[in-house]
Amino acid sequence: MERVSVADLVGEVSAEPVRAPSTPAAEVRPPRIPAYLREVYAWAYLNPRSVRLLDQRVVAAAILWGNYRRLSDAAIGEFAPGMRVLQPACAYGDVSPRLARALGPAGALEMADVAPVQLRNVRPKLAAFPTARLAHRDAADTPRARFDAVNCFFLIHEIPDAHRKRVVDALLDAVVPGGKVVFVDYHRPRGWHPLKPVMSVVFDRLEPFAKGVWHQEIREMARGAERFAWSKTTYFGGLYQKVTATAR
Ligand SMILES: C[S@@+](CC[C@H](N)C(=O)[O-])C[C@H]1O[C@@H](n2cnc3c(N)ncnc32)[C@H](O)[C@@H]1O
Repeated sequence: MERVSVADLVGEVSAEPVRAPSTPAAEVRPPRIPAYLREVYAWAYLNPRSVRLLDQRVVAAAILWGNYRRLSDAAIGEFAPGMRVLQPACAYGDVSPRLARALGPAGALEMADVAPVQLRNVRPKLAAFPTARLAHRDAADTPRARFDAVNCFFLIHEIPDAHRKRVVDALLDAVVPGGKVVFVDYHRPRGWHPLKPVMSVVFDRLEPFAKGVWHQEIREMARGAERFAWSKTTYFGGLYQKVTATAR
């Protein structure tokens, strides 16, 4: 796999270092916060008080029924020291600093999000890693062929169908030849799963687009899926999945 140096990230106009910004803010046209985020998820991701409350390790663990550590380990285990990795959206808990640590001093993490409050929240978590950068961007507008790998952690279930397809395509296009995109997200649980009815109600009430990942495989969302080798592992009775797409 081609290794790309940390310096390559600095050229990204919308990316800013966690410390010592080098790009004048005036040059950057901020992305619009998508309607679904404002109308459906403001309570969870845009309200600073909720961000503080939900970004507790115990809360992140509870939301994933005790599987946070296992799933974040599964994601992080896909990346090697020295890789240049994009995480296209912030996630609560410690997955991002653990990923930055795993990439080591020769690697680079670009942490992107469309919501400024989320970038402000993640900044202190990444302050100890000079190789981390922040980028204010919609995942659907990710630049092409800039990364060795992508860590898409519990993002796509939140996005409505048409926008989700744009995000999946953009993330697949973001990796260099031989690179990989890792999706960790919800998945349709087995029929007997005791939490299936509970999650069904939670999704119907709070996460109206989430059943998209119950009804469709991630590879089926992708245009040009055949350009990638796909593998899928499920966890916790099928309620969660890790899908890796490796560019041929
Ligand atoms: C990745 S999900 C994480 C949810 C999960 N409950 C967790 O914290 O582990 C939530 C983040 O996605 C961001 N987000 C949603 N749609 C986005 C998009 N199209 N582009 C970039 N970030 C997006 C939100 O602003 C929020 O920070």
